[in-house]
Amino acid sequence: MVAMLTVGVLKEMAAGERRVALVPEHIKRLEKLGSRLLIESGAGEAAGFMDSEYGAQGATQLSQGEIIEQAHILLQVQGGARLPSDPRGYRPGQLTIGFLEPYQPHPAFKNMAKSGSHALAVELIPRITRAQGMDALSSMANLAGYKGVIVAAAASPHLFPMMMTAAGTVPPVRVLVIGAGVAGLQAIATAKRLGAVVQGYDVRSEVREQIESLGASFLALDLTAQEKNSSGYAQEMDREFYRRQQELMQSAVAESHVLITTAAIPGKPSPTIISKTMVEAMRPGGVIVDLAAERGGNCELTQAGERIVHQGVTVIGDTNLPASMAATASKLYSKNLCAILAMIIHEGALTMDMNDEIIAAALIIHKGAILRKELQS
Ligand code: NAI
Repeated sequence: MVAMLTVGVLKEMAAGERRVALVPEHIKRLEKLGSRLLIESGAGEAAGFMDSEYGAQGATQLSQGEIIEQAHILLQVQGGARLPSDPRGYRPGQLTIGFLEPYQPHPAFKNMAKSGSHALAVELIPRITRAQGMDALSSMANLAGYKGVIVAAAASPHLFPMMMTAAGTVPPVRVLVIGAGVAGLQAIATAKRLGAVVQGYDVRSEVREQIESLGASFLALDLTAQEKNSSGYAQEMDREFYRRQQELMQSAVAESHVLITTAAIPGKPSPTIISKTMVEAMRPGGVIVDLAAERGGNCELTQAGERIVHQGVTVIGDTNLPASMAATASKLYSKNLCAILAMIIHEGALTMDMNDEIIAAALIIHKGAILRKELQS
């Protein structure tokens, strides 16, 4: 088959981003679809994938400008929407796929629409069985949940597992994981593997069974939540709910050595679940890893991208833990993107079925139009 369609991968431009959108081992998959890869020099280096590996698999190395000029599809990790000062132009008919923050209007969306290019936001891939292989949010959340616990263990002055030594028995640490979605469940599993005594909590009571199946206990609070919307995500609750949640959670927090918070509401600021007072009730040496830091955090003291210590308690607000595992994260993300490409490339041509449930949900810009109302300013 003659490879007609070109897929471009640029070096990521966001600060601290180490991932790359496509890894060398997936280039053959593109070929099977009738497309070939154009890659910017050094694009995979921070994730451990060298130019020579891309070359050996048949990719063509070009400059950023050349790729933008030639690629029919541009793959990114952090898409243009995160880069307001991005000087790149967009080309008519070119499709950009990436994490595009499709929750509010952005000048980049306007520029894309004006130029007649298309954009597909991986965050909006619906959670249906057919799309599981494309679910980049879940892939990355899984890694964040794992790494969050590793980061907490490294910052904690306590040993995680129980240990019997000649000098005495060391009790295990107590870990409380708040929010038991993809990241939270992985955090629970990881903390268990490290030997901690783990509790999990979520507003969605149906996760109790999943928490318990990992060997952790479910923290039951006397709270009634409007549990989730049709997509399976939690709903935003009112002020009184969050106040009462804090009140009921106070003692469980105070008894924990480590908190991993993962409670998010897609597209909305994260709910404040851990107040300053609750942090102050923890023992010195306590560690909070706030995986919701990017959207304001679940802890009142969280500062996005920072690590602070308040009355002996360390609050870690890392916002891009998947980038700290760039090799694995890139492989998983690349696989997610390959699944998306397999849906939209047929015999070397880009064909997007606008009636397809996945395309209809995730395509945010098409032929000069911003398709989602909430993104139009
Ligand atoms: P998320 O990242 O949006 O939120 C994380 C967790 O925080 C959720 O479990 C949510 O219920 C919880 N949360 C929100 N507000 C809270 C509060 N005030 N207190 C305590 N917890 C709070 O969610 P994520 O991880 O993306 O998953 C959401 C659901 O979607 C899960 O049930 C997950 O298993 C499901 N899912 C389904 C997939 C599929 O069917 N293909 C794929 C991936 C996830």
